[in-house]
Amino acid sequence: MSDQQAAPRFDRRASAAYDRRARRMLGGLYRRVTSEVTAAASVGATVLDIGTGPGELLNRLAARRPDLALTGLDLSPEMLAIARRSAASPSIGFEVADVAALPRPDDSADVIVSTLSAHEWPQPERAAAELARVLRPGGRLLIYDFRFVRLGPLTDALAQRFAGVRRDALHPLSLVMRLSAP
Ligand SMILES: C[S@@+](CC[C@H](N)C(=O)[O-])C[C@H]1O[C@@H](n2cnc3c(N)ncnc32)[C@H](O)[C@@H]1O
Repeated sequence: MSDQQAAPRFDRRASAAYDRRARRMLGGLYRRVTSEVTAAASVGATVLDIGTGPGELLNRLAARRPDLALTGLDLSPEMLAIARRSAASPSIGFEVADVAALPRPDDSADVIVSTLSAHEWPQPERAAAELARVLRPGGRLLIYDFRFVRLGPLTDALAQRFAGVRRDALHPLSLVMRLSAP
């Protein structure tokens, strides 16, 4: 592994524990994000979920919008093993990848989404550059993370590359916020 690459924090045990917790606690978030992604995605759109973890968001998207081309990318092979095992559709793709070096061509995604992962990205500048490279002009970026984490450097780096970057609370009392562009 080069010093440019992040190291996966989720080994087999941590991934299984996270999967159990997420199923119990994150249904409301996944429901909300599913609605927002499906609203942003036109018919047949290519959607990337960065830091997909156990892949529950992709399962919900596939159930609601079978027309979408869905791929989950994650640094942790152990998380992706769980995601593959529980995938609701054989058409969902999974790939081990770092947000700082996305294995995707320029302008190839219509929507890029990420939930509860951005606070783990050690190189916000590189992440923002990769998101801007891969998202097609006019595409939608939707990043959700905890309100109390430090996302200033990522927000600034995104604002240099995307017009209309916004940071919103999902609800006044919610622990989760959304960073979006445009
Ligand atoms: C807390 S989990 C969230 C999983 C899922 N998105 C959810 O909402 O349940 C964070 C995920 O981000 C992944 N991750 C962390 N850093 C990453 C990076 N640099 N590139 C890609 N994925 C990363 C982790 O491996 C982990 O699966």
